[in-house]
Amino acid sequence: MINPMNLALIGAGTIGRMHAANITFGVEGARLYGVADVFADAARTCAERYNIPRWTADYHELLADPKVDAVLVASATSTHADIVEAAAKAGKAIFAEKPIAKSLADADRALGAVTKAGVPFQIGFQRRFDPNFARVKQAIVKGEIGRPHIAHLVSRDPGPRTAGPVGVGGGVWFDMMIHDADMALWLIDDAAVEVYTQAAVLIAPGLEKYGEYDVAVVMVKFANGAIATIDNHTDAAYGYDQRAEVIGSAGAISIDNTYPHNAIVSDASGLHRAKPMPYFLERYQAVYRDEVQHFVNDVRDGKPIAVGVKEARDSLLLVLAAKKSHEERRAVRIAEVTAG
Ligand SMILES: NC(=O)c1ccc[n+]([C@@H]2O[C@H](COP(=O)([O-])OP(=O)(O)OC[C@H]3O[C@@H](n4cnc5c(N)ncnc54)[C@H](O)[C@@H]3O)[C@@H](O)[C@H]2O)c1
Repeated sequence: MINPMNLALIGAGTIGRMHAANITFGVEGARLYGVADVFADAARTCAERYNIPRWTADYHELLADPKVDAVLVASATSTHADIVEAAAKAGKAIFAEKPIAKSLADADRALGAVTKAGVPFQIGFQRRFDPNFARVKQAIVKGEIGRPHIAHLVSRDPGPRTAGPVGVGGGVWFDMMIHDADMALWLIDDAAVEVYTQAAVLIAPGLEKYGEYDVAVVMVKFANGAIATIDNHTDAAYGYDQRAEVIGSAGAISIDNTYPHNAIVSDASGLHRAKPMPYFLERYQAVYRDEVQHFVNDVRDGKPIAVGVKEARDSLLLVLAAKKSHEERRAVRIAEVTAG
């Protein structure tokens, strides 16, 4: 057996600690060699918990360490582009949480460095590795539903997230909608050409002054004529809601949420079942492991990465166009945001 790949985790917050647990207990062929977090305590605690040999408050130290083969970027959204750029220049393979950036200029700077260095790069669109979403894709690829006409993507959070000050994270556009943008592009498998968005603040008054919204609906038109809708809500009363439906020329396929158990109690007042899995950590835990396992395997085997530079950029373009559409109250062509 070849030596395990040495991974450095950058960002030991909610998702970083989850990746640390997955890599320690569930990913083969890799081990955590280092962890960095600007909050030194977060890095130290994570290192102690998962027996990681090296920890630091400055990720540059890990990038300079020749023992580090690859980095997993799980820091705050606003830091991704700088860290990806620096990691590419240091010659490390990179797995980065989504989104790559909140602006096209930052994304192109980081992705340009990746391309120039020729290092492997995967972006964290874990839904592509989820068995439910993968089954929808398979139905399309195998022709089970004919030519896709309309895709509906529903992504609703169980309550507004409180981690970090407003502006550091990506909010509804860059943290939530970016996943649905990627799903729409993956499922329809064609170029998005135009979007139209309505967004509103209905849950957390005052959010709009930060350019943030808590509900949004987007219509996406593709070059082949297909249409996708994206439905984002940050406070669904019944919990975390992640569904999709695609209708095509020969039929439709839909996927439901997943549940902690499938018992249904029937009584005089109706049929009652458990709420869906509480949130992303529970809903996608095994999927987060699988996406990192794919990354490790592809890097080790020298295979092209399936969800990489193009997917990181295309999803951002779609979200930037969706945001612009809402701000300017009009349909926006994707070409408008690529023009700068
Ligand atoms: N793929 C998914 O489903 C998914 C789910 C949740 C979060 N995410 C993404 O993961 C990222 C982190 O989200 P989170 O929920 O863990 O946030 P979080 O606030 O819990 O953790 C972020 C951590 O990054 C650290 N950090 C910030 N700047 C840093 C820097 N320059 N160097 C090192 N560490 C730094 C912070 O101190 C914090 O500990 C976000 O970009 C988010 O979009 C993806």
